[in-house]
Amino acid sequence: ETERTLAMIKPDGLSGNYTEKIKVAILDYGFHIVKETEVQLDDERASLFYAEHSGRSFFGSLIKYITSGPVLAMVLERPDAIAQWRALIGPTDARKAKTSHPNSIRAMCGLDSEKNCVHGSDSPESAAREISFFFGD
Ligand code: CMP
Repeated sequence: ETERTLAMIKPDGLSGNYTEKIKVAILDYGFHIVKETEVQLDDERASLFYAEHSGRSFFGSLIKYITSGPVLAMVLERPDAIAQWRALIGPTDARKAKTSHPNSIRAMCGLDSEKNCVHGSDSPESAAREISFFFGD
């Protein structure tokens, strides 16, 4: 059954000119890119997007990273989109991705557990919230 998820190319992905390569990987994997928007998040919007991580030690660093340049948010659609996008991007830690998931997007353009190039919603609830965060209802 068709499903939608929120994908985001982070500032390191955009500044490293990985957008086109990532889009090719997305389309090759059978996704349809339904909507996209490039935006510069400020501290307040970034903190809202990542509110669930606000108690973590890396939160300040995460907000600095995600506001360091524009991000590209996309709504992706295909059957089982949430799980399939997370499979395509690979593990959070891009160093792990490079060894255990060499064909993943994070292996291609990520650096470590913070600068991991892309984001994907982790549940239907997150997908709904994150899609309306960027695109409204
Ligand atoms: P993302 O999938 O967007 O979800 C939360 C983000 O926090 C994650 O990708 C990373 O960018 C960042 N993150 C997660 N774990 C760590 C960590 N241990 N240290 C620094 N940043 C992290």
